[in-house]
Parts: sequence; structure tokens; C-alpha cells
Amino acid sequence: MRWILLLGLTGCIRIADPLPTDQEIGALAAGYDDLIKINPKPYQTTRHADRPFVTVWANPTAAATYETLTLESPRPVAFEEGALLVKETFLADGTTVLAVRYKMPRNYDPKHGDWWYGMLRNDGTPLGPDATGRVAGCNGCHLEAAVSDHSFGIPAAAH
Ligand code: HEC
Repeated sequence: MRWILLLGLTGCIRIADPLPTDQEIGALAAGYDDLIKINPKPYQTTRHADRPFVTVWANPTAAATYETLTLESPRPVAFEEGALLVKETFLADGTTVLAVRYKMPRNYDPKHGDWWYGMLRNDGTPLGPDATGRVAGCNGCHLEAAVSDHSFGIPAAAH
């Protein structure tokens, strides 16, 4: 009886603990004020559509871990909840969009390392209605990097 009550209480605590919203994550990604630049100069991505030039930014929770990763040599790492990675993508027309990954609380999406994905405008708003959350078009490919917590890292030459 006592155990059942305890389980019930734990359940309540979890439900009362809300996940960060798209707006909150967007606000963290926009502006870059608090973010650390990983590659000094934009580099050309090999995998994202149209191979644009990109610059990756990380928040203080993510930066030290992310800096140890290179695309060519995957290694096991684990990012902490609250880790934020922003790939600033320079489009041919001179504008930029943000490809964003945010480490959610445990069990948000265990198959995909509990990462939230989003394609955002520079001001942090989503590019479209299906552009945020458990985005299959993003997290499926990032499964290839499951060993390094679904994070690829930038090419060694871009570091
Ligand atoms: C076809 C595979 C593929 C797809 C689809 C893909 N990515 Fe990536 N992503 C990569 C690779 C490879 C890298 C690292 C190297 C590079 O950019 O070439 C990367 C890097 C990133 C990074 C920098 C952090 C890291 O993991 O190294 C972010 C942020 C990111 N992607 C977000 C997204 C988002 C958001 C989407 C969906 C809109 C997405 N990606 C879709 C392959 C993919």
C-alpha cells in the first residue's frame, strides 16, 4: 500500500515538471549572446541538403563536450540535459537559418538520445509547423552518431 502511494507521488512530480517549450528553446538559440563559437570560420557541411556553409555554436553546458568531437573520429560522449547546439546555416540568398539540437530531460525521446530538433529563423521562431520537436527528418540521420550521443561534431579541419 505504502509503495503504491509512493509511486503515485513520484508520478505527480514528473507530470508537474514541464518540458522546455519551443519558445524557450528558440529564445536560447536566437541571438547567440550566451553561446560559444566552435569553428572560427564557416565550413562547408557535407551532409545537410545543398551543402551550405555553416558555423556551429554551443552553450556552456554543451561546449566542453562538443569540442572533443570530430566528424571523422566518433567517440563515446554524453551531453547533459540543457545542452544546446546551434548550426548557423548560410543560405545562397544571403540569409541564415538555425538547425538546432537541445538535450531534453530523460525519456523525452529515448531512441534518439532525448534530443529536441528544430529548424528556426534567426529570431528563434520555427520555420514551419513541423519544424520542431521529435523531427523524424533530423533525428533519423543523427542516429548514425548514436555512439557520440547523436552528435556528429565538426570536421577536424574546421576546428
Ligand atoms: C542526412 C543526415 C543529416 C540530417 C537529415 C540532419 N543532419 Fe544534422 N548533422 C549531420 C552531420 C553529418 C553533421 C555534422 C557535420 C556536418 O555538418 O557536415 C550534423 C550536425 C548538426 C548539428 C551540429 C551538432 C552536431 O550534431 O554535430 C546540428 C545542430 C544539427 N546537425 C541539426 C540538425 C537538424 C535540426 C536537422 C533536421 C532539420 C538535421 N540536423 C538533419 C547530418 C544530418
